[in-house]
Amino acid sequence: MSDLELLRRTLAPPFRIKVVEAVKIPSREERERILKEAHYSPFRIRSEDVYIDLLTDSGTAAMSDEQWAAMMRGDEAYVGSKNYYRFEEAVREITGFEHVIPTHQGRAAENVLFGSLIKPGDIIPGNTHFDTTRAHIADKGGKPIDLIGEWLWDFDHEYPFRGNLDPARLEYVLRKYHDKIPFILLTGVNNVAASSPISMENIRETRELAERYDIPIFFDACRFFENCYLIKMREPGYGGKSVAEIVREALSYADGCYMSCKKDALVNIGGFIALRDEKLAERCKERLVLYEGFPTYGGLARRDLEAIAIGLREGLDERYLEWRVRQVAYLGELLERAGARVIKPTGGSGVFLDVYSVYPHLSEKELPEVAAFADMYLEGAVRIVGAPFPVDFVNLDGGEVERRTFEFVRFAIPRRALTKAHMEYVGAVMERVMERAHLNKGFRIVYWPEILGHFFARYEPIS
Ligand code: F0G
Repeated sequence: MSDLELLRRTLAPPFRIKVVEAVKIPSREERERILKEAHYSPFRIRSEDVYIDLLTDSGTAAMSDEQWAAMMRGDEAYVGSKNYYRFEEAVREITGFEHVIPTHQGRAAENVLFGSLIKPGDIIPGNTHFDTTRAHIADKGGKPIDLIGEWLWDFDHEYPFRGNLDPARLEYVLRKYHDKIPFILLTGVNNVAASSPISMENIRETRELAERYDIPIFFDACRFFENCYLIKMREPGYGGKSVAEIVREALSYADGCYMSCKKDALVNIGGFIALRDEKLAERCKERLVLYEGFPTYGGLARRDLEAIAIGLREGLDERYLEWRVRQVAYLGELLERAGARVIKPTGGSGVFLDVYSVYPHLSEKELPEVAAFADMYLEGAVRIVGAPFPVDFVNLDGGEVERRTFEFVRFAIPRRALTKAHMEYVGAVMERVMERAHLNKGFRIVYWPEILGHFFARYEPIS
């Protein structure tokens, strides 16, 4: 057996643990009370009351000793800190874009970039937009359109690149609305589409279509290293290339990108915008000063920029990426063994559940995704998140954009923070959930505000 096979089979990580954080498991009675007091929302539960937190893979990574050491090299100057220049160099090297603008996280980059590009009435097509992305597009008066195909909802088949946009839908939208489209947004490891990647072929096709109408392309690159690792694994012609080369090729088809560094860059806070066009960069910097801060810190402590510079390089390490993607796949296998159906093949950030495989007796109205969260918490103090996710789907038959829903139930895995045994615990909790799921009568919404409703919602069980 080769070394690589040995590592794959055992899921031995490419690091050792130097610092630990103690965690508790509240008793079943406590969990019942906590759930009730939290109105059955994962966003109202304290981290202290959670044993394994799979709410998000964002900002939850364990930083390395190198990153922690780098934080001590913070040069906290308001202007021209040396940390900024090291951060700029790392972003330039990895993305190939000249102009680098730090932001405090991904949605801040969305605010600054979209505010510089979107006019009221504009249309922003993309593979599928994440919720903060949709909200920021709408906030600037724009309308997001999701160009995903029917395959998003087809769990009977495996799509290696479920995150792709449908070129036929893009062509249709470009023909119809091209003068209202300031840019196309492509999200790597498409969070909505079960964290499945977008293929290089799809990126190239998008580029060709966009060029016909002279429309720029930007990437939401928060999980782009995982995306490009999956291209290496799954797309013909890329097996022999390094992930760094694949990242550079993919971004060469775009005009810029933004990144929430809280994902693939392995930090707890931070983000950036990287652009080819100097004039656009200048406009963004003017907005940046208003919302984030001076362009050499962008809403962050300078020490955070140093940690990002290192995290970007560590996040591209292929032994790490190999382990990471295997860990996600392993959790998928365990959930399947417990009797649930997961969306396959698994991709980057975590495992997505076909929630009706657990609650076939519940309808969309009875909120099976809330049931899944509540049961995982009740049975083992595991926190996951589920919400009906809006998709503005282009119906090619009628030619109209129709609002659809995707039942988003995600077991997101924090990076470098959990072991194989943690995954096995989650699998065992899923077994408990499966035994009792038929008793769950579903939930109803008690409170749901208009913007980013699922963050603030309250629910109650249907009795
Ligand atoms: N784009 C995508 C695809 C995201 O998944 C996120 C955040 C953002 C942008 C915004 O970045 O949080 O740094 O402001 N996703 C987190 C998640 C919250 O749980 O998936 P942010």
